[in-house]
Parts: sequence; structure tokens; C-alpha cells
Amino acid sequence: MSKLSKGDFVVVDPGKHEVKGMVFSKTGTVKGVFSFPSKSKRVPSFNNHESSSPKQFKLVTNNKFYLVGEGLQAEYNAEVTKTNEHHKLCVYTSVAALVDNDEEVVNLVIGSPTNDFVASENIERYKELIMGKHDGEISLELNRNKKSFSIKNLEVYPEGMAVLPRTLKQHTSQIHVVDIGGQNVNYRKYDEKGNTLEYFSLDYAGMNRLEQHLKSELRFVLTSQDFDINSIDWDTAISERRIPKLDEVLEDGSTLSGFEDSEDFLQESIKTFIQEHIIDALVRKSVYLNQRGHAILFTGGGSLRLESYLKEVLASNAENFEISQTAKWDNCISYAIRYLTQLEKDKAVVTKAVVKIIKAVKEVDFEENYNIIENEEEEISIR
Ligand SMILES: Nc1ncnc2c1ncn2[C@@H]1O[C@H](COP(=O)(O)OP(=O)(O)OP(=O)(O)O)[C@@H](O)[C@H]1O
Ligand SMILES: [Mg+2]
Repeated sequence: MSKLSKGDFVVVDPGKHEVKGMVFSKTGTVKGVFSFPSKSKRVPSFNNHESSSPKQFKLVTNNKFYLVGEGLQAEYNAEVTKTNEHHKLCVYTSVAALVDNDEEVVNLVIGSPTNDFVASENIERYKELIMGKHDGEISLELNRNKKSFSIKNLEVYPEGMAVLPRTLKQHTSQIHVVDIGGQNVNYRKYDEKGNTLEYFSLDYAGMNRLEQHLKSELRFVLTSQDFDINSIDWDTAISERRIPKLDEVLEDGSTLSGFEDSEDFLQESIKTFIQEHIIDALVRKSVYLNQRGHAILFTGGGSLRLESYLKEVLASNAENFEISQTAKWDNCISYAIRYLTQLEKDKAVVTKAVVKIIKAVKEVDFEENYNIIENEEEEISIR
């Protein structure tokens, strides 16, 4: 059963950590959301690859077999660009999960790192990659079902726009939007009217990079050879600000050179990473986040994960500093608003659609209520 109706558009934010997607009607109804880990792996066949996770997909394209999503033994894609096979597989998986085998026409909006917008040929190459060799006609197999669709419109928008939170809070000053993702940090500066003044990305400052940094630091300072650093769940450790298993090893006599315990290690290492790789890296590009008077909006999933550390690093900016609570979905929401604005010339119609989106975002827990991949068998009935 197709999850799309005529006029709907699909937005995919193909993150390096997590692929996020949303389906909208052209009147601004949020018809569904989905997300899955940004991992893909080519396999010789699907034999011995059974998984009950609705977020793991079996994809066959060009006669090659891939697993995409959850539960894969694969590294995150560490290239700076998204113009590569991995992101193409993620985008195709997203669309295929929404359509039937009916050559459905799909209006598609996807994101790309801000640095790629410096030269228009980067975006053209990305578009060509996604459109494939047959002008947007795509046939593949997903979870052993044949799927086909035709990409009619393809728009590529920059990461880190975060339009929605800016419309929720009336900012009267210049605003710095900082999108902390898996691989990169996207920066955008807007004036009071919402015009973009400046944009770029810091290509090695995201959460996957922080995790690598913490691992190598820990290898360097921990005296125990027996502790398995690869077994640490870094997301939980960063949020909880401690690594209980590591503290047990320290109680048994091992030491962390220069640090008291796991809490001290995490606090110091993460704050230093934020300072050096984000705050100071921005300063090198003449952006002074801790200048008073400007509004700062943190978005991207990494901002939620790093919330307590950001508050400490930017303690003197407490009053002009905000973390978007819809951080994970901000790119998708912003793309939808921009797409509607581009599509529909009647301002009143656009405003009505945007208000509808904002209302949905404010009132409903997206992941609980709009998830269209977890509820695979159900038809979407949300208005
Ligand atoms: N609700 C949440 N609470 C805490 N952390 C979260 C939440 N949602 C996502 N994250 C964290 O956000 C990070 C990934 O951020 P995000 O999904 O914005 O990256 P991405 O868009 O995939 O990467 P990129 O933008 O570099 O391509 C991960 O560390 C993840 O654990
Ligand atoms: Mg992102």
C-alpha cells in the first residue's frame, strides 16, 4: 500500500548519523515521519541476514545486494560530501519504503552540507547521482518487494536552516544557527528579517567525530589493557556524563592519567572538543558565538546530546542561547516550509500550510504519533 497521495512531497535529510524523513501534503499536513541509522553494507546475498527490526532494510539495486539501517556491522560514512553511493542508497531506501510498485511520481526534497553550496556544480553532481541513469526512473527491490518510482521534482537544500524555531520565537537580533550533526557542524547567520548573511560547514566537528576523539583520548590515558573501549555506548555515556563500567575498572586499581574518574574525563574532554572544534573553529572564520546581544540557536541531534555541556561552555550566554527541542527534525521541517514557499505563489495558501506544520510540531510528539515505518501495516490516518 502506497503511503503517498497525489501532490504529496517527500523530504529526506540524509544524515551521516541518522537518515530522517517526512511526508507532507501540499496543504501542509504532516503525513508521517521516519528515521533509521545511516549505515549501509553490501552483502553477497541476504541468506543469514534475518532481522526483525523495522529499521533494517534489504535493498537490491543494479543487481547488487545491500543491507541498510539498523543493526549493521559497519562504520558511519566519514566522507565530507554526501555525493556518494551510501547516501544514494539511503535516499532510495527512504522513498522505496513509501511507495508501491506502480511507477509512482515522487516530489523529492533532500539536504546537503552547506559547503557544497559554495559551487553550484556540486549540487548538480549530487542531483545527477540521485536521478540515476534513467532520468529519475528508479526500479529496485526493498525487503523482497519490487518497487518503482519516478522522481519528478528534485530539490536540494542546505543543512542547518532551522526555519521553524526562528518562526516560533520572535528574534529581534542577528541569529547564529549551529546544526551539530554526526559528521559536520553547519553554521548559518541570519539578519533580523531572516536573510542569510553567511554560511559554511565545519567538516569534522560532529558527533561521530567526537566519539572517535573520546575513544582515542581514552586509549591514551587509561592504564588498563583489559578494558574494551569499543564496548562503550557513547551516546548514553555522553548524556549520563559517566561510564559505570570504566569506573569499576578504576576502582580495581587502574588509572586514568590526568583524570579522577569517567565523569571528570567526559566533562573535560567534551568541553575541550566543543571549545576547540566548534567555538574556536568558528572564531577562525570570524564568527564570535559568545559575543553578547546575538541570538544563538543550536539545532541537529548533536545539540540535544550535548545540551548540558553547551550550557557550561557558553555559560555567559545563558540569556541569548537556545537549543531547539525539535532539533532532529529541523532540517526536514525547514525544507518543507521552503519547498511550499517555492511551489505555491499565493502567500495566503503558504501561510496556512506553514501554520499547520508549526501546529503539528508544537502539539504532537513526532516519533510517537507519526511514525510510518514502525507502523508498516497501517495506513496513515493523521490529519
Ligand atoms: N533526542 C535526542 N536526544 C539526544 N541526542 C540525540 C537525539 N536525537 C539525536 N541525537 C544525537 O544526535 C547525533 C546525531 O545528530 P543528527 O541526527 O543531527 O546527525 P546527522 O544529521 O545524521 O549528521 P550530519 O548532519 O553530519 O549528516 C547523535 O549523536 C545522536 O545520538
Ligand atoms: Mg544533519
